[in-house]
Formats: sequence, C-alpha cells, structure tokens
Amino acid sequence: MSVLDIDTIRSKFPALSLPGNGIFLDNPGGTQTPQMVIDAITDCLIKSNANLGGAFRTSQAAEDVVAQAHLAMADFVNANSEREIIFGQNMTTLTFHISRSIGRMFSEGDEIILTTMEHDANVSPWLLMARDHGLKVNFLPFGKSSFEFDLSELDDMLTDRTKLVCVGHASNMTGTINDVKTVTEKAHAVGALVYVDSVQYAPHGPIDVQDIGCDFLVCSPYKFFGPHMGVLWGREDVLKTLEPYKVRPATTDLPDCFETGTLNHEGMAGVTATVDYFDWVGRELADDSYRTRYGQFAGRRQHVHAALDYLTDYEIPLTRQLIDGLTAMPGVKVHGITNSNALSKRVPTVSFTAESHKPRDISQALGDQGIYVWDGHNYAIEPVNHLGLMEGGGVVRVGLAHYNTAKEIDRTLEVIATHLEA
Ligand SMILES: Cc1ncc(COP(=O)(O)O)c(C=O)c1O
Repeated sequence: MSVLDIDTIRSKFPALSLPGNGIFLDNPGGTQTPQMVIDAITDCLIKSNANLGGAFRTSQAAEDVVAQAHLAMADFVNANSEREIIFGQNMTTLTFHISRSIGRMFSEGDEIILTTMEHDANVSPWLLMARDHGLKVNFLPFGKSSFEFDLSELDDMLTDRTKLVCVGHASNMTGTINDVKTVTEKAHAVGALVYVDSVQYAPHGPIDVQDIGCDFLVCSPYKFFGPHMGVLWGREDVLKTLEPYKVRPATTDLPDCFETGTLNHEGMAGVTATVDYFDWVGRELADDSYRTRYGQFAGRRQHVHAALDYLTDYEIPLTRQLIDGLTAMPGVKVHGITNSNALSKRVPTVSFTAESHKPRDISQALGDQGIYVWDGHNYAIEPVNHLGLMEGGGVVRVGLAHYNTAKEIDRTLEVIATHLEA
C-alpha cells in the first residue's frame, strides 16, 4: 500500500492555498477543483466555443469536447458504451427528467421502493412520478443503530408488482455505503429496474456499473473535483425502451435524445479533465498493486479505478481520526458507522450532534475559525427524520476529501472541543 503524496495532491488545487481560504470540510456539498480542470474549462471557452453541427472549425471542436466527455465518463463508471452516458445540469434535474420517461412504463397499482436513507433528489422525483401514475410507494428502512439496511426486509417488500427500486450508493447523512449489487440482484429477480444514486459515493470509491448490474446510476462531477454538472448512466437496452422527452428537431439517437437542448460544453471539458485527474493519480501516484486489481481494464479506465482505491486508503485513517475524536467528546453522538474496523463500509461523510449545542451553533463556531462544514438536514430529510433529528436542527456534517490532512482534522476537533466546553 503506497502512502499518498499529500503535498503534491494539494499543490494541484489552487483554492486550498488561496489566502483567506480555510479548511475545506464541506466536501459532501461540493469539492474544490484541480488547476487542470480549471484550465480545460477556460480552454474550451477560448478554443471551442460554438454550438454543435456547424460547418466550421469551432463547432467541430465543440463536438469533440462533447464526445470526449462521454468517453471520459464511460471510463469513470465502466460503461459498455459512451452512448449510455447522459449529461445534464445536476443529478436532481436529470432524475426529474428521466423519471418522466420511466413513469410511462408503469400502470396504476404498480409499486416502487425507495429508502429512508436517501437524499431527497432520489425521493421527490419518484414520489411525484408515483402520484402521476397511481403507483404505490414503499420505504425500506435502515437500522437506527446499525445505520445499514436489513436486506431481508427488502425481500419482504418486493412483489411481482414492484417495478422500480431507487437506492443510494452512499448516504450523504450517515455515510453508509450500501450493498447496491445485492439490492440489484434482488430487484431484478422480480423484474424491477434499479436506479442508484452514486452522488455521495463517487468521490470515495471506484464505480463499476457492470459489476453492480443496475439499470441507471447517477453522479455529480462537482462532488468529485469537477464542475457543476450531473451525469446519468443508463443501460443501453433499457434506455432504448424509454420514450425521451425532447424537442422535435433533436435526434432520436442515444445519448443525444436525452440531452435535448444545448449542453454546458465548458463544464463537459472540465469533466473530461476531472477524469484525467484521476487518471494521473492512478498512473503516477498509485503503485502497481492498485492497478493490477483492475487488470480487466486498460489505460485511463484502469488508472481511474486504481486511483479511487488508492485515495480511499488515504481517507480511511483520517476518517478514523475524526470519528474517534468526536466519539471521545462527552455528549457527542456520531450518526453513522463508527467501528474502527468497519470504516470501509462508509464514506468519510460524518454527521454528529452534541447534547449541549445546536448544529448551527457548532458549524458557526467552526466557520468563525475558518473551518467549513455543513449543518441541518442537507436535503437528507428521510434519514434525518428517521433518526428523529429534525426538531433539533439536524446534524453537523464534516466531510473529508483526499486533499484533507490529519493536521486539519486535529484543528477541527480542537475547535469543536473548545466550543463544547465553553
Ligand atoms: C446523495 C446525494 N444525492 C443527490 C444529490 C443531489 O445532487 P445534485 O446537486 O447534483 O442535484 C446530492 C447532493 O448533495 C447528494 O448528496
């Protein structure tokens, strides 16, 4: 296992050393970007700034930007083809958009399964779809002390009328990584489609849609060091069965038919550079043992998957440091998996409450010291309600990324401890 060269990593992210900027632990809400991503966005606006389909140089250059971004994200999620990659504004908008096409496949009385661990972007679009088509909605609960699903409860919920199961890959509240592969196997056994929300997982682990076996998977590049965009992967044979909602002149080809309207080309150039950043980490920083884990892949696809494992190995001890420090404070409760030996079952998105202080009060004290964290429900209203935390103002959420350091965690724990003692 190689040790991450954190100084080299941090030198790639200009925001981390900008005078006046503090400690970025707000990563579950959005991450900082490496210079190569910023350069790619600028470059696109200078050299390829045109709409598609023209008989002139900049339009052809823009087409290349768009094509490259699809190829890059196909590598990122291990898609079968770049035709399976659909770009959009963000995960929420993409989910609302595709839910309109998915909903047409269902009839009154059909059933869908959501979970109590979801971000609302993987709930509200489906509740509205269910309302429009007269579908029955069931919620799979998670254990209030295990912070995991008991998948035998999913077995009890699945029926021959279940048409869709929507599940988060990792929670933006508890941090739990869910066994989406087993959820998919169970759902497919009754003929249901599976929609996986990987927004919170994507910065912290390699994604392989073919291994998971799901039908749709969504993620948001701005959560994994890229620009503000969303990406939906859909299995080609499933996408082909959906009716796209699009303008008449738009093609019926995949993926264009689901990307109707003009795309954010500069954002897409940034997404390609984001995937290339992981490629660089996997090629230049990770050692061979990480790459050989992905011997079935080659080139960038292999490096990106190796990079994410390599970065996770750096994140786990930091997560342990944060969780151990928090749980040692009197009256503090971490709402997620805390067992030191089980940290590979979670992402480093750590939510906590303190008996004596409201979440906003703690995040404000941290903010005053230049430490950026989130508080409240963070749109995870299902899990926050499930754990009975809404009335108290939700949680404080401290979220690490691979550019954070042990020193930053020490400082954060020190400020929290001092504030709680005051
Ligand atoms: C787990 C999860 N799903 C979905 C979303 C929504 O993503 P977007 O902002 O791209 O719509 C978020 C955003 O925080 C999230 O954490």
